[in-house]
Amino acid sequence: MKIALLAGDGIGPEIMEQALRVLDALALPGVTTEAAPVGGAAYKAHGHPLPPETLALAKASDAILFGAVGDPDCDALERALRPEQAILGLRKELGLFANLRPAKLYPDLADASALRPEIAREIDMVIVRELNGDVYFGEKGMRSTANGRREGYDIMSYNEDEVAAIAKVGYETAIARAGTDRQPKLCSVDKANVLETSQLWRDVVIETGKAYPDVALSHMYVDNAAMQLVRNPGQFDTIVTGNLFGDILSDQASMCAGSIGLLPSASLNGSGQGLYEPIHGSAPDIAGQGKANPLGMILSLAMLLRYSGKNAQAADRVEAAVGHALGAGARTGDLGGTLSTAAMGDAVLAGLAL
Ligand code: IPM
Ligand code: MG
Repeated sequence: MKIALLAGDGIGPEIMEQALRVLDALALPGVTTEAAPVGGAAYKAHGHPLPPETLALAKASDAILFGAVGDPDCDALERALRPEQAILGLRKELGLFANLRPAKLYPDLADASALRPEIAREIDMVIVRELNGDVYFGEKGMRSTANGRREGYDIMSYNEDEVAAIAKVGYETAIARAGTDRQPKLCSVDKANVLETSQLWRDVVIETGKAYPDVALSHMYVDNAAMQLVRNPGQFDTIVTGNLFGDILSDQASMCAGSIGLLPSASLNGSGQGLYEPIHGSAPDIAGQGKANPLGMILSLAMLLRYSGKNAQAADRVEAAVGHALGAGARTGDLGGTLSTAAMGDAVLAGLAL
């Protein structure tokens, strides 16, 4: 398995370093890695956030471990040159349409959640977010209105094949999570009371569901879903939703489960390639200070081992090591503690050695 390492901006390099310590400690045979610049760092060094060499490396790899992109120095650049275009470009160029964002409360972190512990304790869900369409990739621009006022626009659209493809991932994720002990549950989140895009979404999710008669399907408007996520998050098992709603709801779910610093994600295409990244951003305010929580990054490595490496045993070991670290009281600042990024890495390595 060849892994491309794209650390990116802000806290990306420091959390990547900790994930690589974990990868080294696993000493897996047949795994090779190669690093390349991406995001604002790549723009500064090579004039583009996703240089052709970086894209070529990503395409030639089985898996990509990705840190974060985003750099305030680049905010005034034209949109095509901004750091965020690197991750959007990778998702699009590699056809990584299916984004899995699991949110589960570690029992030891019930107090870190923004919710009351008895509510937070119930959180165990995965958000399946579509990643190649929606308002993110529609026609966009600035224009001036008839009376000379500025107007920005971004077109939201989904075609039925895109919806059917992500719905299928949603159903199959729900089935895999349920195992043999219970009925699989899938909640599709949309805004079908207002948006045509969402009406099509809902219709196609229902049509696709004919092939999955055992899955209990429900529908929820996104505003209600945002409210239910804090009122009673335990009701959710698998959520399937579009690119924009999934972006927003996954940040919200992460804080309900303790900290945005904890959530990993996997972005998969139809040919078995995957990109793995924590869902948080580059956090420029704390970059370079050794304060960032590396657990979302380390858990993204675990997802990489599970989905691209087909090595459930190694993935389980990494996840258990993170559980051990948290169980032993290891806490970075976002979790109310004082550990440095490297010290949290040490705590995970100690858990791995058990
Ligand atoms: C995420 C991020 C990205 C997104 C940004 C960095 C473009 O917020 O992965 O959730 O909006 O998808
Ligand atoms: Mg986001």
